Amino acid sequence: MTDQAPAPQTDRPDIPGKPTSASRTTLSHIMTHNDTNLLGTVHGGVIMKLVDDAAGAVAGRHSGGPAVTASMDEMVFLEPVRVGDLVHVKAQVNWTGRTSMEVGVRVLAERWNESAPATQVGSAYLVFAAVDADGRPRRVPPVLPESERDKRRYQEAQIRRTHRLARRRAIMELREKRAAEGYED
Ligand SMILES: CC(C)(COP(=O)(O)OP(=O)(O)OC[C@H]1O[C@@H](n2cnc3c(N)ncnc32)[C@H](O)[C@@H]1OP(=O)(O)O)[C@@H](O)C(=O)NCCC(=O)NCCS
Repeated sequence: MTDQAPAPQTDRPDIPGKPTSASRTTLSHIMTHNDTNLLGTVHGGVIMKLVDDAAGAVAGRHSGGPAVTASMDEMVFLEPVRVGDLVHVKAQVNWTGRTSMEVGVRVLAERWNESAPATQVGSAYLVFAAVDADGRPRRVPPVLPESERDKRRYQEAQIRRTHRLARRRAIMELREKRAAEGYED
C-alpha cells in the first residue's frame, strides 16, 4: 500500500523542501571504561548524549543553521551496551513543522566479541527548534520523505506531535483551573 504523501506546505512557498536523505547521519563511537555505570555496562546518559549529538547534527544540516533541543521523548533502552562495543547512532528528520523538526534516532551496537550483525539497543524521538542568532525560532525547510519507510515515519511523527500538543494543553488547563480554585501549588 502507498502511504499518503505529506500535505503541501503552502504557507512557506519560498523555502524549498529537502529530502530526508540530505541530512540523514550516523555517528559511531567505541565505548570505553569511562562510559560505564556501577554495573559495568554503559551508562544510559552516555547514550543519550550521543543521541542528542547525532540528532543535533541532523537538525542543523536540515535547517541550514543552529538548532536547539526542545524536547526528547520515548528514549527506549532495549539491550545493555558494553565496553568495547562500537555504537552507531542513526538519525534522520522524520517531520517538520514551521520552526521545529522531529528527529528519529536508532542506536545500534556492534559487539566487540561477536561476529553477529549490529543489534538495535535503543531509540528516541527528539524535537529541535531552528533558531536565529538571537535564539529566536526561525522557519525550516519542509522535509520531503522519500521511501515508504520515510512516509510512515512522517505520519507517525504527526501523531506524536498531536499528542505532545494535546498533553501540554491539558496540563496547562489543569494548572489554570487549580489556580482559579485558589490552590497555590
Ligand atoms: C525551544 C525554544 C527555542 C522554543 O522557543 P519558544 O519561544 O517557546 O517558541 P515557540 O513556542 O514558537 O516554539 C518553536 C517551535 O518549537 C516547538 N516546541 C517548543 N517547545 C516544545 C516542546 N517542549 N516540545 C515539542 N515542541 C516544542 C513549537 O511547537 C514550535 O514548533 P513549530 O514552529 O514547528 O510549530 C526555547 O524554548 C528554547 O530556547 N529552549 C531552550 C533550548 C535549549 O537550550 N536546549 C538545549 C538544552 S540544554
